[in-house]
Amino acid sequence: MITTAPKMMRLQRTIIAGKRAYHDLVTLPGSKPIVSSGPPGYSAVSGHRVTVFGCTGFLGRYLVSKLGKMGTQVIVPFRDEDEARLFKPMGDLGQIVRMGWDMRDDQTIAECLRHSDTVYNLVGRDYETKNYDFRAANALGSERIAKIAAECGVSQFIQVSHLNASKTSPSKFYQAKAEGEELVKAVFPSATIVRPGPMFGYEDKFLTNMAVWPIWWKLNHGQTTTRPVHVMDVAQGLANLMTNPQFSKTLTLPGPSTLTYEYLLELVSSVTLQPASRAPVVPKGVATVLAKIGQNVWWPSLSPDEVTRRYIDDADVPGDWDAVGVQPSEIETHAITYLRRYRSAENYVRPVVFPPRPAPSLVAE
Ligand SMILES: NC(=O)c1ccc[n+]([C@@H]2O[C@H](COP(=O)([O-])OP(=O)(O)OC[C@H]3O[C@@H](n4cnc5c(N)ncnc54)[C@H](OP(=O)(O)O)[C@@H]3O)[C@@H](O)[C@H]2O)c1
Repeated sequence: MITTAPKMMRLQRTIIAGKRAYHDLVTLPGSKPIVSSGPPGYSAVSGHRVTVFGCTGFLGRYLVSKLGKMGTQVIVPFRDEDEARLFKPMGDLGQIVRMGWDMRDDQTIAECLRHSDTVYNLVGRDYETKNYDFRAANALGSERIAKIAAECGVSQFIQVSHLNASKTSPSKFYQAKAEGEELVKAVFPSATIVRPGPMFGYEDKFLTNMAVWPIWWKLNHGQTTTRPVHVMDVAQGLANLMTNPQFSKTLTLPGPSTLTYEYLLELVSSVTLQPASRAPVVPKGVATVLAKIGQNVWWPSLSPDEVTRRYIDDADVPGDWDAVGVQPSEIETHAITYLRRYRSAENYVRPVVFPPRPAPSLVAE
């Protein structure tokens, strides 16, 4: 009787008011109840409270926007207050909560996540700074957040890693990403690990960088293969995980096709209607030395590890898009959106022409 009475009341309310149904109440591990209400969209209440560490980055902004649209209360931890201002209109009043944090301060981490049922960790850096090396930014920080999340009773932890994360990789960044996965799993065993491929979008360091610095993408004669994925697809997949948890899984989210940098440079050139770069192919040793010298400037420049990564093919593993309920789109579908700004004024509205796709063996089925 004790258990059925509230259910009967809910059923009655559903029939009379037509407002709430059984599926509006979800119980997450740790018995956290999630109660959704309201109309769909921006003004809805999904019932979830989510913290997105690393929200101020490229992927984080799109994820917060998608979560806000679903009516989720999102805690957005920031280091620089200006970086967090853009989140304000992404959710209804009171739904976007901005909080200052420091990766080395347990108390601020706990404050940011203690009321959340789901925590996303998108924190990562693919170059070293004087305060944070690859390990500190990608592995130790993730472990710290996951440990505090476990202590605070968070139900779901989603760690964003990288498609090429591997402890045996020649790249220190990919090694740190793999170590981060292991450390997170050790302190939060049911964590979901998500491994996206290289992402493209407005603020990427991929397509737009190719338009500006083609010379650095010609390394290895452009023969390195990559599996680019649209940032919106990854953000949607991550947002879907909130309502469709994949506890204790590793999900890989590569792009639908495997392409060479050579093809992508051709694509950039034909979409922007700019002549192909005639810069020479820089040998690896020279590129590494130049990248080391470049580290003396105070803004992020091509790092020696990035030179190493330009010679590493993206992992050839199947994608788990079905698990996150997203159909990934091809790079050609969105290229013009992000590359039109590199066209000259007289070419601005000309139709888009794509170069022929490379040999079929390079294109995933
Ligand atoms: N971009 C890609 O192509 C790609 C591909 C696969 C995987 N990933 C992974 O996906 C995640 C998100 O990528 P992204 O492109 O959005 O990265 P991003 O634009 O570089 O953003 C990284 C985020 O991490 C935060 N962060 C970095 N170091 C920090 C530190 N020491 N303390 C506190 N916060 C720190 C940044 O905060 P601030 O804004 O305060 O600096 C920012 O919010 C990363 O883990 C990345 O490794 C990215």
